[in-house]
Amino acid sequence: MAPLQGYAHKGTMPSILKIIFVDDDPNLLSSLRRMSHTKREEWETSFANSGAEALEIMAQQRFDVIVADMRMPQMDGADLLRKVAELYPDTLRFVLSGHSDKDLILKAIRWTHQFLAKPCNFSVLHQKIQSSLALSKALDDHKLHERLSSIKNLPALPQSYERLCAELESDEGTIKSAAKIISSDVGLTTKVLQIVNSAFFALPRHIQSLEQAVGLLGLETIRTLTLMSGIFNDSKGAQIGAISVQSLFGHSAKVGAIAKKVAKELGLPQETIDDAFFAGALHDVGHLIILHEFPDELKEIQTLQSQEGLTATEAEYACIGVSHSLIGAYLLALWGLPHSIIEAVAFHHEPAECYHGEIDIAIVIYLAEALAVTEQEHDYDEFVSRLDMSFIERIGIEPKLKSLFAECNIVAESQESAS
Ligand SMILES: [Fe+2]
Ligand SMILES: [Fe+2]
Repeated sequence: MAPLQGYAHKGTMPSILKIIFVDDDPNLLSSLRRMSHTKREEWETSFANSGAEALEIMAQQRFDVIVADMRMPQMDGADLLRKVAELYPDTLRFVLSGHSDKDLILKAIRWTHQFLAKPCNFSVLHQKIQSSLALSKALDDHKLHERLSSIKNLPALPQSYERLCAELESDEGTIKSAAKIISSDVGLTTKVLQIVNSAFFALPRHIQSLEQAVGLLGLETIRTLTLMSGIFNDSKGAQIGAISVQSLFGHSAKVGAIAKKVAKELGLPQETIDDAFFAGALHDVGHLIILHEFPDELKEIQTLQSQEGLTATEAEYACIGVSHSLIGAYLLALWGLPHSIIEAVAFHHEPAECYHGEIDIAIVIYLAEALAVTEQEHDYDEFVSRLDMSFIERIGIEPKLKSLFAECNIVAESQESAS
């Protein structure tokens, strides 16, 4: 089984976490020291004022988490985390960065599990660390490893997507060069243009070229569609009960499009709106693995759902010991996708388990899923019946739920008419 950086702790999770904070600002370090003291029953903390000092301390003892400043003299946060990833792949890596650190963020993105904006409220930092560990713990499940080890060929990250990301992250990357990469694969181009022209996007005119598509939908959306097309293109045309590659593809595109709308309605930043589409498009990739690798068990799962009234997740645990959410999250972690996306996929049916005090992508996908599967148009009660209302009230979005339903139901309708 391939190593899963930062998500595969050996044995059970420690009851006291060992965390190292690295920052060249002595005032920030001392305030972190003060605040961490209030968590001394959960955290054992160390502090370093440079990357070199952090590496020296880390050579002496194992740490569960490192939280590093981005802009530091000599060794910046990106270089430090790259070294930590190589030397101690099991350590979860967080970066504290300011708004002016855009270039460094790009440099650090491969090595970082989560970015935290400066100034960072200590309780947010605490909650984010705890929720990352919840994901780490969920993915460290022994049954999950056992099941996935039996699969000889877990799908690889589609090459076209990798090439596109490398191009976009390079200095020379342009819309033209990105479109050229996708165009070099005729099947992929056809699939991307097919989705772009479906009612999912409700575009005012027929789009014939990738450049036009990028111009109208933005590079991030096209990047996600490339990944999605790669994943669903490679798949064989299997079908078991109502689940087929085609139905999963349609459902995923629908949840992605609704998630984008939900994120917008909730007033989340553009970056989160793009991520919501990305996570929505991939949220059920675990179902695809179950469809191909565990077809007999899938039949049993469907029987349990229809005869005993179990949810998909309950039936999956009963038949294969793991859920499609965790299988999908595990695959995305293997592909090295961002932590926030993996977390959203892992908890898209139970966002309360990773809630850290903010509306995150897992919650957006949870709402989008409920909207996407609400069968009766305009049936607000059915939508609400699919939600854990005590959680919705706890996170404070209950007052917005009606308008959210009204706005995002329109997306669902236009998609329905397309399929
Ligand atoms: Fe779903
Ligand atoms: Fe799901």
